[in-house]
Amino acid sequence: MAQPRADPGGPLLGARLPHLLYGGDYNPEQWPESVWEEDVRLMREAGVNLVSMGIFGWARLEPRAGQFDFGWLDRILDLLHAGGISADLATATASPPPWLSRAHPEMLPELADGVRLWTGARQHYCPSSPIYRDGARRLVEALADRYASHPALAMWHIGNEYGCHVPACWCDISAADFRRWLQTRYGTLEALNAAWGTDFWSQHYSDWEEILPPRRTPTWPNPGQSLDFQRFSSDALLECYKIEHAVLVKHTPGVPITTNFMRFFKPLDYWKWAAHEDIVSNDSYPDPNDPEAGWLAAMDGDLMRSLGGGRPWVQMEQSPNRVNWRPVNAAKRPGQMRLWSLQAVARGADGILFFQWRQSRAGAEKFHSAMVPHGPVDSSPTWRAVVELGADLKRLDAVCGSRVPAEVAILFDWESWWALELPSKPSTELELLDQVQAYYRHLYEANVAVDFVHPEADLGGYRLVLAPNLYLLSDVAAAGLERFVQAGGMLVMSFFSGIVDPADRIRLGGYPAPFREMLGLRIDDFLPLVTGETIGIHSESLGRGQGTVWSETIEPEGAEVLASYSGGDLDGRPAVTRQDFGRGAAFYIGTRLDSTTMGRLLRRAWVDAGVKPVLSAPAGVEAVRRVNAAGTSHLFLLNHGDTEVELEGTPGLLDILTGRRLAGSRIKLGPRQVAVLEEPR
Ligand code: GLA
Repeated sequence: MAQPRADPGGPLLGARLPHLLYGGDYNPEQWPESVWEEDVRLMREAGVNLVSMGIFGWARLEPRAGQFDFGWLDRILDLLHAGGISADLATATASPPPWLSRAHPEMLPELADGVRLWTGARQHYCPSSPIYRDGARRLVEALADRYASHPALAMWHIGNEYGCHVPACWCDISAADFRRWLQTRYGTLEALNAAWGTDFWSQHYSDWEEILPPRRTPTWPNPGQSLDFQRFSSDALLECYKIEHAVLVKHTPGVPITTNFMRFFKPLDYWKWAAHEDIVSNDSYPDPNDPEAGWLAAMDGDLMRSLGGGRPWVQMEQSPNRVNWRPVNAAKRPGQMRLWSLQAVARGADGILFFQWRQSRAGAEKFHSAMVPHGPVDSSPTWRAVVELGADLKRLDAVCGSRVPAEVAILFDWESWWALELPSKPSTELELLDQVQAYYRHLYEANVAVDFVHPEADLGGYRLVLAPNLYLLSDVAAAGLERFVQAGGMLVMSFFSGIVDPADRIRLGGYPAPFREMLGLRIDDFLPLVTGETIGIHSESLGRGQGTVWSETIEPEGAEVLASYSGGDLDGRPAVTRQDFGRGAAFYIGTRLDSTTMGRLLRRAWVDAGVKPVLSAPAGVEAVRRVNAAGTSHLFLLNHGDTEVELEGTPGLLDILTGRRLAGSRIKLGPRQVAVLEEPR
């Protein structure tokens, strides 16, 4: 896997912008130039120091094939620079211009049932299309050549939210590209036939040309083919990114490159993608109506930090207030935008940007909030909140470049996610994110810091590793996990893990074959539960509880039984086990435990592992610590509740947001309020 360029530490953009980044998507081409001066004045008022420019600018930058018009971009970049504002310059390839698809309709994407997606919205391109790729390359060459030495250029923003509307394409061009990809992966047709198990249902291929993407079929397509198509589709878009990346590296070797991710976005294997970015960035749109939104956003932030190997990341987009794309678009509560912004900083973000700077007058997103609303700014609470956040971020410069230390890792792998959720399983109600969240929320609520980690990564730095439904894994990952426990690590693994190899073929020898020895058990059968069905759990140490979704017959082969099923056919049979292995130990969970029981089990595991929460705080208070290279730490305390809370603090500590020191040992935090306490080494 490629590695991101070396991390110099310190602020993300180094000495050129030694601050937390603040700004948003700026689309000046939607406005008369007379508005631009006011834009820059307002940006300065809000403390904006970085704007993402020209994301949807292709049709204006190249209005006809090969005819470029950079005049408007020159003028606005000069204006921004004169105002002290830097540009995260987009490559403008997210939405091809109408002339390109008119001349080459074969560049438009096609769905699995042959429906073509037409021009008139955005992202209407087949990722494998040479017409799209060549057009994008030419545009990026021209842009990079023109702006390589422009003083406003601070960072490159390739594409935009790759795959958000069109994550895959099934057209003939994609089919040919898929075959090329398969030839590289397998070398020979025999190897492909063996991997896909094509002796089943007469699927054996005798010629590469017979192979298609998994188009609409009479019933389930071959699972190996489906899984490889997901891998290919992620790679096909990554190839588009890499084509542009190569151009930018050639012209501006020192300028950092990003593309904006979308949280736990299933179609793209972000581990592979992040390896080609200098800065990981994310788009975050929690629903203000969702009571779970706060901790789910924390989980997204932890993923972004983890994708960058712990380095600071950027919240590239969030909404200042309402979005426009839910059936009902709730406004953010007072203080909520600030709270969620500072939460991202707490979890390692060194930049907070919005979609978008000025609210559009026309187009499909005119009711999406923006930093500058339609009405006058003076009377706008959204604008006031934007200005206040800008001031807050200036006070937090000291956290630039610092890290969030974690002793717990959750194993997370896109390939296993794809394979787990392919159809024709013991149960199709088993969803990976549901399982990951069932683990994560307990760590979040107890303020235990956690990283997400690829199963093949080095686990040596962690005390506790959690493996929610690691259905597919490689031999390398299985061996690494065993080594981790042998060496003294603590593992918690959930049901339906270690079941298949990377080709989605069963690992024979009794489930879960690679882990039987480490877990000290064998699974003889899966007994999934229907929606609404529960199974009783009884345990001396964990109390009485319930399982849902899944159960199975666990045959202990040395493991200690921690909880058993009560009632039904599995009465008295093991539900949760633990086994000492080497210098460590491994817990195994055979059902989806109710939240209370799951919480008790995880607490026991992290206590056994010697993991320490950041802070014991009242419910609803999130506590995260960032530590810089000199050993100074900043303790973020975020009250997600609607009422004031009081917690313990060390007298004398400085809250760098207010500039005040704690007088006594109590800290009061109002609803949605935040404190950032500086803890000297
Ligand atoms: C995404 C896109 C933006 C915009 C916002 C609206 O994040 O990247 O261009 O459409 O959604 O929420």
